[in-house]
Amino acid sequence: MLDQSLIKAAKQAASNSYSPYSQFKVGACVVTDDGNHYSGTNVENASLGLTICAERSAICQAISQGSRGLQTVVVYTPTKTPTAPCGACRQFIREFSKGVDTRIFSVCDSDDVLDTTINHLLPHAFSDF
Ligand code: THU
Repeated sequence: MLDQSLIKAAKQAASNSYSPYSQFKVGACVVTDDGNHYSGTNVENASLGLTICAERSAICQAISQGSRGLQTVVVYTPTKTPTAPCGACRQFIREFSKGVDTRIFSVCDSDDVLDTTINHLLPHAFSDF
């Protein structure tokens, strides 16, 4: 189910992380319902609140290329335990998961994998108004 090429793409993205403030490298790779995949990394800023997480970076790539429905999100961190998407990224994923319970895999430098879904991570989400 979790294709090794997606992990490789997320790792590759993490190697481009711009994280001079936190030193915390994150890479993400998303698969959209047209079968394409897009990767992204975290991009920090001296004005810390402007930081863009890897997940949102990858999703913006997908949307900018015309892809939509998120089937899968893979998050990689060079850590011993997996890192779950932050709250803002959960809301961002939810925006493009309509009609599908997007699968989320967090992988790291050990065999520990967090395998979950957006509905599990963000129950009772704000989605329509
Ligand atoms: N970060 C992500 O890229 N994704 C998350 O879901 C959580 C946090 C980044 C933002 C920042 O550059 C660094 O990790 C430390 O918070």
